[in-house]
Amino acid sequence: MEKILIIGACGQIGVELTLALRKEYSNQQVIATDIRDEHELLKGTGPYAILNAMDASALLEIIRKEKITQVYLLAAVLSATGEKDPKRAWDINMQSLMQLLDIGVQEKLHKIYWPSSIAVFGTSTPKQNTVQKTIIEPQTVYGISKYAGELWCQYYNDRWGLDVRSLRYPGLISWKSAPGGGTTDYAIEIFHEALRSGHYTSFLDKGTYLPMMYMDDAIRATIELMESPSEKIKSRMSYNVSAMSFSPEEIAAEIRTHIPNFTIDYAPDFRQKIAEGWPQSIDDSAATSDWGWKPEFDLRKMANEMLTHLKG
Ligand code: SER
Repeated sequence: MEKILIIGACGQIGVELTLALRKEYSNQQVIATDIRDEHELLKGTGPYAILNAMDASALLEIIRKEKITQVYLLAAVLSATGEKDPKRAWDINMQSLMQLLDIGVQEKLHKIYWPSSIAVFGTSTPKQNTVQKTIIEPQTVYGISKYAGELWCQYYNDRWGLDVRSLRYPGLISWKSAPGGGTTDYAIEIFHEALRSGHYTSFLDKGTYLPMMYMDDAIRATIELMESPSEKIKSRMSYNVSAMSFSPEEIAAEIRTHIPNFTIDYAPDFRQKIAEGWPQSIDDSAATSDWGWKPEFDLRKMANEMLTHLKG
């Protein structure tokens, strides 16, 4: 029987992934942990513990005590927050991964999931339909830590046969749980502001296209990857996955089909430079051919879901 540990369960991905895995397995088989107090939506749905992702001995203890067989490590410092304190971002992102990989080998974990990001790409990468294997020169500390992490995952798989799996998420759009300091967060804020005040000042400029994905697709991609037979997982770096790509004015136009008086203006800040270093659209054909990935949400469907749920 699989027993799953989620690290970072109260974050943007963690909340929804924990709920989805508890539906798929049983509530008791999925232990949620985070450095923060339990998220409202997790309360009453299954076991919860406080865990600092940097604390290797606490991690080992919970893995042994709960007889954990799979770990999802979601705790990370994202792109925008990372640039404010690069050393701290590097330490948190790398130390949490390295100690888990070691424990994974030592405790013979069945599987580990660790997310990467489109932030691995940089200005030297081709911007349109960016393929999985291409020029990769990340420019943020977040991107550097994700790329280094991908290489370490591949190394542990190659050297010790550790079953680590990974996706390069695009910007993730969700309504249940708040985003945590990313460059793509504007695409969530815009919905909240559209409903609250009818106006949004975007920190990314007009014409800034970025790859994005609705959270339901991201959760399904993650679980499908983790449940695929291991011979189908041909990349032990990280898979490109994609769903849609839009600019601030395009998402604003989509919101206007629901809220006709909605207005947007632009005040780009330091996050503009980060966005300009990333691809505008992603080729995810390797994920499609290796384990059958297919997105379900485009801009129209995603915007409709976001506004319906946020209106309550
Ligand atoms: N959403 C993330 C960020 O903007 C990208 O992985 O940092």
